[in-house]
Amino acid sequence: MEIRKTKILIADDDAMVRSTVSKILEMFGYVVQTVSDGKGVIDIVNDSFDVIILDINMPGMDGFDTINALNKFDYNIPVLFLTGAGSMDYAVKAINLGAYDFLTKPIEDLDIFNVKIRRAVEKRMYVLQERRYKEALEDDVRKKAEKLEEQNKLLLSYSNSLENATVQLMSSLQNAMEEKDFYTAGHTTRVTEYAVMLGMAMNLPENDQVVLRRAAQFHDIGKLVIDLSCIQKPGKLTDEEWLLIKKHPTVGANIVKPLGFMKREQFIIRHHHERMDGKGYPDGLKGDKLDPLTKILIVVDSYDAMTSRRNYRKNLKMEEALAELDNCSGSQFDPVTVRYFTKSIVDFAPTNNVFSREYLENFYVSDN
Ligand SMILES: [Fe+2]
Repeated sequence: MEIRKTKILIADDDAMVRSTVSKILEMFGYVVQTVSDGKGVIDIVNDSFDVIILDINMPGMDGFDTINALNKFDYNIPVLFLTGAGSMDYAVKAINLGAYDFLTKPIEDLDIFNVKIRRAVEKRMYVLQERRYKEALEDDVRKKAEKLEEQNKLLLSYSNSLENATVQLMSSLQNAMEEKDFYTAGHTTRVTEYAVMLGMAMNLPENDQVVLRRAAQFHDIGKLVIDLSCIQKPGKLTDEEWLLIKKHPTVGANIVKPLGFMKREQFIIRHHHERMDGKGYPDGLKGDKLDPLTKILIVVDSYDAMTSRRNYRKNLKMEEALAELDNCSGSQFDPVTVRYFTKSIVDFAPTNNVFSREYLENFYVSDN
């Protein structure tokens, strides 16, 4: 590293003083630059100067104005004032303004002059050292923060891929389960599609849409561990079989519970057979206690159940199913969700000409 010579800036309107002081300082081994007034100082000052010597009485900006202006910069260069003998008031004012020291002119004692200059130079070295230390520290902190952020990103991507792998594994199991049962085949896929469509139609936040999709995807996962033979038989289910079936929301929530990343989904799965009037299962929760996403799942799940064929009954047509949703709006289903669903499914369905104008006027949700 190149060793930088200490550089001193002198401002004095008296050319004689400038030249004398310069010569002395150069004799001591300093690099010197001179200007004739305060403005000259402000024009050229920068971090390469280590000490500034200011005369007090100068045309234009005097010494006090100049130090005031210098204080606005961040250079932190010690300023020494040149004062005539006997101007003690000036000296006090100079110190109050932040001057480091003052020198008397004419210079009579070279040793004292030299000591004062050296002290100011040392002060400047100390300032620079502290600045470098602070910069190094900041740099170190910044580098560590960057490293930490990188590690966090890596961790997040691990955790995301783990989540995705888990979701995929569960989906495969779910599909395998559904394929065993001709009548429920495709139910999960359709319910998930309806839920995603409705989430978008209701303009839900992106995060809610992710939760809704996952909850829909796994809402019936509890059926994985329930003996399916009873729901595959033709005809109506017995009371005992119903009791067994009714366990699937709780069982499903318990399957998802240990995963940690599906906390909200867990409750939606648990409550997807609740009703607005509190007559659903497993907890008999009323509408005001249900997650809004649960209300969506309840509607789309029921709609698909109504429009798909089951062992014990024929499926309803879309128009009939929507009328049923409307009938049970408020008691079983959340009215707002039903209105949005009715509107969206009409747009979503490829055959929306099956709806009469009168029907659309009754069920269509206005955007206002
Ligand atoms: Fe279910």
